[in-house]
Amino acid sequence: MIPTPPTDPSDADGDVPEYEEVRVPVLVIGAGAAGARTAIELAERGVESLVIGKRPHGDAHTTWAAGGINAALGSLDEEDDWRIHAADTYDEGHFVNDPNAVELTAKQMPDRIGELDEWGMPFNRTEDGKIDQRYFGAQSFRRTCFVGDRTGEAMLETLVSKARELEIPYRENVMVTRLLSDGSRVYGAVAYDMEDGHFILFEANHVVLAAGGYSALYDRHSSRDEENNGDGPALAYGAGADLLDLEFVQFHPTGMVQDPDWDENWSGRLVTEAVRGEGGRLLNAEVPANEASGSTGEGDSPGGERFMEEYSPTQMELDARDVVARAIAQEVREGRGTENDGVYLDISHREREFIEERLPKMYERFQSLGIDLAEEAVEVAPTAHYSMGGVDIDFRTGKTRIERLYAVGETVAGVHGANRLGGNSLAETVAIGKLVGEHVADAFADANDADPSLPAGMRTLAEREFRALAELTESDGDTPPAELLAELRALMEDHAGILRDGESLDDGLEKLAAVSEKTADLCLDGDRTSRAFEDAVDLSFMLVVAEGVLRSALRRTESRGAHYRTDYPEKRDEWRKNVLVHRADTGMELRTRAVGLPSEAVQRAIDEGHELEYHHLE
Ligand code: FUM
Repeated sequence: MIPTPPTDPSDADGDVPEYEEVRVPVLVIGAGAAGARTAIELAERGVESLVIGKRPHGDAHTTWAAGGINAALGSLDEEDDWRIHAADTYDEGHFVNDPNAVELTAKQMPDRIGELDEWGMPFNRTEDGKIDQRYFGAQSFRRTCFVGDRTGEAMLETLVSKARELEIPYRENVMVTRLLSDGSRVYGAVAYDMEDGHFILFEANHVVLAAGGYSALYDRHSSRDEENNGDGPALAYGAGADLLDLEFVQFHPTGMVQDPDWDENWSGRLVTEAVRGEGGRLLNAEVPANEASGSTGEGDSPGGERFMEEYSPTQMELDARDVVARAIAQEVREGRGTENDGVYLDISHREREFIEERLPKMYERFQSLGIDLAEEAVEVAPTAHYSMGGVDIDFRTGKTRIERLYAVGETVAGVHGANRLGGNSLAETVAIGKLVGEHVADAFADANDADPSLPAGMRTLAEREFRALAELTESDGDTPPAELLAELRALMEDHAGILRDGESLDDGLEKLAAVSEKTADLCLDGDRTSRAFEDAVDLSFMLVVAEGVLRSALRRTESRGAHYRTDYPEKRDEWRKNVLVHRADTGMELRTRAVGLPSEAVQRAIDEGHELEYHHLE
């Protein structure tokens, strides 16, 4: 659990619960695409790693990524190239992205797609056999490769099968609660087995964090409740690494709106951007169902105004996610939303066969809920989807500021700046995953230290953590952790949502402190395999990252990308910099850092001013 008090060897007294010890050259924490791709690179370079994850092999947050993965292949639009991909990424990231990260990703992606294709990923194809590409928001060309609308799932299946072929060991149902760090170097991690509750001490020469982001800090989120709770950034922070730009949280414009008749909770789950990429239109509720003169659908369209004409007449529904999400928020605020504070998404003007082929998962999901996408619109509202902020790494090496601690995937900040392009997250996992694998393999060869050794202070730290976890298991207060998780998520939604201001962020910090105080009164059932125990550990991560988001959002006195301050509505040149968060003895400390410049090649592509011409789609 974190935050981490400094190591104190005198604290070694007292009963230490039994624990298993595992020694491994490289420990990869997180089993989604980023962790898998890193481990594959290590294996191909002859370095042994162990991948650990909270769920069974092949079940990770990556499977929820739907619409696609970006690479400038030019299958349909031959003018596209990696420089324009990089330019689009910068432009929509509002120029606070890390120039190295953007270029490394965009440049590599055609090769990474070729490799996934070779490893068996079943990409949709054009009639002449090329990998098909679709439009995705704010991209100048059709650049998003896809497997229907189950791209993440297909990609993880491909990577897992490659990892199995390479016999990379995987250990499931393991939750890490702390990294073993003396503040300058990492030595391993402390964890427990979620199936039988026993403790595990991992000793490792190198640790790669690939444990996801923090979008589930919000009440409406597109991930599963038990994922994206900030594990990766919080573990890195506890170890002494810096976090960067936590204020940039992406709200995807189209999350599902719960219907009380549905048995399962679908609130906030993703309606993929591919629906808009394939022509889906957003309509407000201004005109009652089927009475709109502006009705666009041939089926049972709700009518309503196609409000993106007001906000973005050129890019329409495919403008950047921050623009579309804010437009929806404004429609709702001004009384043109639905009863549930949403709007409608309508693709019923497309042929049924087209929808079934291009959006099979969406089609089936809504069919099973009694909605026929070929005939009617669905209600949608923004949902927290992705964290652009995260651990600060040097993209030339993958290193954090803690020796031998690396990070990759959504855990990391830098590629996406203030707003991510759809399709760039899957791209980042494989592009940066491969690079981090290369760097760790090089570092491993240089250090020539296959046998990890644990200094006495680190064992003391681990044992103290085991005792604390054992005590936590027996907590007999009055407050279920789930109650505090819900309070935290609600306050983040209210105080650090799509629109923020200084006063409200301050209030959010006060409420967060109140939630934190209540953790002294947790009630757990003495069972470490329970959901309540996992919730308690999640809560410890979420409290740290939520504080970082609120403080960083307060510090950035401007609006940029996904960070919109109603008290500072303009983007300000002097804020073209990153906000860093660091753990100090006195608590959380913030500082700022200037951002580098893109290369000449990419700057030229930016100056050329490429832009999506939405009306191609019609
Ligand atoms: O809407 C989507 O399919 C999401 C894709 C992404 O976030 O990259």
